[in-house]
Amino acid sequence: MSAGRRGFASDNAATVHPAVLDSIARANVGHAFGYGHDPYTASVQGKVAAALGVPEASVFFVFNGSGANVLSLRAALRPWQGAIVSENAHLHTDEVGAPEAVAGAKLLLGETVDGKLTLAGLRRLIEKSNDEHSVRPGIVSLTQSTELGTLYSLAELASVVEVAHAGGLLVHLDGARLANAAAALGVGLAEVVAGVDLVSFGATKNGALGCEAVVVLNPSLQEGMLHLRKQTLQLASKMRFLAAQFDALLSGDLWLVNATHANAMASRLAAAVGQIDGVVLSRAPAVNAVFATLPPAARIRLLEEFDFYEWDETTGEVRWMCSWDTTEADIDEFAAAVRAAVASA
Ligand SMILES: Cc1ncc(COP(=O)(O)O)c(C=O)c1O
Repeated sequence: MSAGRRGFASDNAATVHPAVLDSIARANVGHAFGYGHDPYTASVQGKVAAALGVPEASVFFVFNGSGANVLSLRAALRPWQGAIVSENAHLHTDEVGAPEAVAGAKLLLGETVDGKLTLAGLRRLIEKSNDEHSVRPGIVSLTQSTELGTLYSLAELASVVEVAHAGGLLVHLDGARLANAAAALGVGLAEVVAGVDLVSFGATKNGALGCEAVVVLNPSLQEGMLHLRKQTLQLASKMRFLAAQFDALLSGDLWLVNATHANAMASRLAAAVGQIDGVVLSRAPAVNAVFATLPPAARIRLLEEFDFYEWDETTGEVRWMCSWDTTEADIDEFAAAVRAAVASA
């Protein structure tokens, strides 16, 4: 990738929002105790907890989303327990087995439709035989918005929580794109995490430089979290600069502005490329991702100019991801390039 090249590879390919950089610069004054033992970090932890609607929740800033997910599993599971995840879960597909290697937690794949766990599949796993030879499901981890750019409705989310809790399981939400989900659902962050026990709350894809938070909403899971975060190698020494990133995104609801914009750019892209003969939108775009198939020659030609992922090698499906800094001009230029590439394919 050359510097300055625009693309649709991921929302982490985007720039850092200037307000985040300003916030880091504002925090860059004087000395402060490390490891989160400073009043500023404590105040931002309070802001995060309040934003998720549980002021007494405990908040642990970490470096990345995989770390947040694995730390969450470590906090929630006993050694004989596993985590039910969808077959598309980042935990399953993109964390190199870290849940197993680092958390010692086997992942149990639940039936998945459109990137979402089905209730029937969940019930089957929960009710499966439970003798000492099998891993016992201890938690359901779902992703909102999902890896396929789909959304659990609030009712679907509530049903997953109900089935999990009724079966004695906890619920973790991988919210790497929690902001996009809330924006698309037209609700606050608190509504999207209602009933959940702990959340990986993403900031990086929403305009931060590199920061996520594990938010423990269920007080029974708080014990040992500080130690676990350190043991999972996710304890920042200069913590105030992580806190500053969340501070910026929560101020003036910048998280919502950024997520709403990213989602709107995906809608614009879907509308533009959906009209091109030869391009098929493979999933209904609900948040900031557009999935499509197009002739292989067109895909190869486009990749010479724009970054994006070939999502599924077997079908040739591609993913075009929009971010807080995607512009209307980016979309229009790219849609024109898609049209030209398909025409000449
Ligand atoms: C759904 C989901 N969860 C978690 C992550 C976190 O990844 P990382 O460890 O790269 O911050 C990602 C990043 O792509 C993601 O898409």
